[in-house]
Amino acid sequence: MGHARRKREESAAELPALYALTHDGLERVAADEITQDLHGEVKKTARGLVVFRLSQIDESVLSLRTTEDVFLLAWGSDTLTYRAADLDLFRQWTARKPDWPALFRWHHQIRPLRRGKPTFHLVCQMQGEHGYRRVDAEEAFRAGLRHVLPAGWYEVDENAWLEIWLTIHGKTAVCGVRLSDRTMRHRTYKQEHIAASLRPTVAAAMVRLAGIAPGMTVLDPMCGAGTILAEALTLARQRKGGAPVRLLGGDIDPHAVFVSTQNLGRMGPVGLARWDARSLPLADASVDRLLCNPPFGKQLASVEEILPLYTALAREWNRVLKPGGRAVLLVMEHQALSMALSPFRWTTVRRLALRVLGQPCTLSVWHKPLEESTLPPPAIA
Ligand SMILES: C[S@@+](CC[C@H](N)C(=O)[O-])C[C@H]1O[C@@H](n2cnc3c(N)ncnc32)[C@H](O)[C@@H]1O
Repeated sequence: MGHARRKREESAAELPALYALTHDGLERVAADEITQDLHGEVKKTARGLVVFRLSQIDESVLSLRTTEDVFLLAWGSDTLTYRAADLDLFRQWTARKPDWPALFRWHHQIRPLRRGKPTFHLVCQMQGEHGYRRVDAEEAFRAGLRHVLPAGWYEVDENAWLEIWLTIHGKTAVCGVRLSDRTMRHRTYKQEHIAASLRPTVAAAMVRLAGIAPGMTVLDPMCGAGTILAEALTLARQRKGGAPVRLLGGDIDPHAVFVSTQNLGRMGPVGLARWDARSLPLADASVDRLLCNPPFGKQLASVEEILPLYTALAREWNRVLKPGGRAVLLVMEHQALSMALSPFRWTTVRRLALRVLGQPCTLSVWHKPLEESTLPPPAIA
């Protein structure tokens, strides 16, 4: 190993590790973003969690788009017993394991106190069946922090300068200092909302999986509040250079078109229209990337109910997508989607199971074959 590389690795080892909380099912996509965009080293992924290291810690960590929140890691465990013994672990590890002053210094570098008194907030989240209550875990966590927080810091419920979280998920627990704020998950562009609008981090994952390159035409034929297009626009702007990406979107609901115009108008040029996605006013083979999250069926919608809609959509998607193009689709009824697409020989190149609006969904990436070609689909990073 080269001297310079060893030195870099040694100094990186002195920096605290970080972790990101993700939407369930998006861990691998977030890990790819951390590796590719931040050149980070992913140490571990678990449900809703990515633990990683960076060779330097600065504001760039706040530019992640597929993560819900990012933290400096104080301690972590993936061997919880689900029994009361875990409470001792929460208390003792919080009190003894971390170098809290160092973590606070890193936090203050990224989030300096601009005005007012230093304030803090503690968050304890717990998912899964444990032999203790969330309040018991919080009490143990608070007891561990008793001698950690400097005198003169005030606990507040909202808009705290510094937050320390304990997140318990099954047999995994992570504790850390939050670096992100609510804008990481909610974004600032989303001023107007519609029901069933997608979480921006899920839309960002769809955009990453689409592999959008300069000069491409990108379509969301059922754009709702425009979340997917907003994420595509953000990514295109981050990756400066090359021909501009052309973004097109529309919706059958005039209110959705109004809302997406409001949200996207502030961000950049997007061609928006009111249309029926079953009959798009677009030329054949005019789109390089198609991203869509069609309306979710009612909770009990059967394949038979949803199939006619998906069949009409699939015919139109296949008409407008260029041969060799890619589609990223998020649906609740993946079986119906596969049936609707089966006449067109599209192949699935990636499939992720997620929960959206509390419902299990499938995010799938499809490749439309090059006509008359037997070439395999390109690998997706
Ligand atoms: C699940 S929402 C999409 C949410 C969007 N991705 C967002 O983040 O806001 C589905 C959208 O499909 C629209 N829609 C339903 N049927 C349509 C059709 N035939 N043509 C175009 N849009 C349609 C609905 O109005 C709704 O806005």
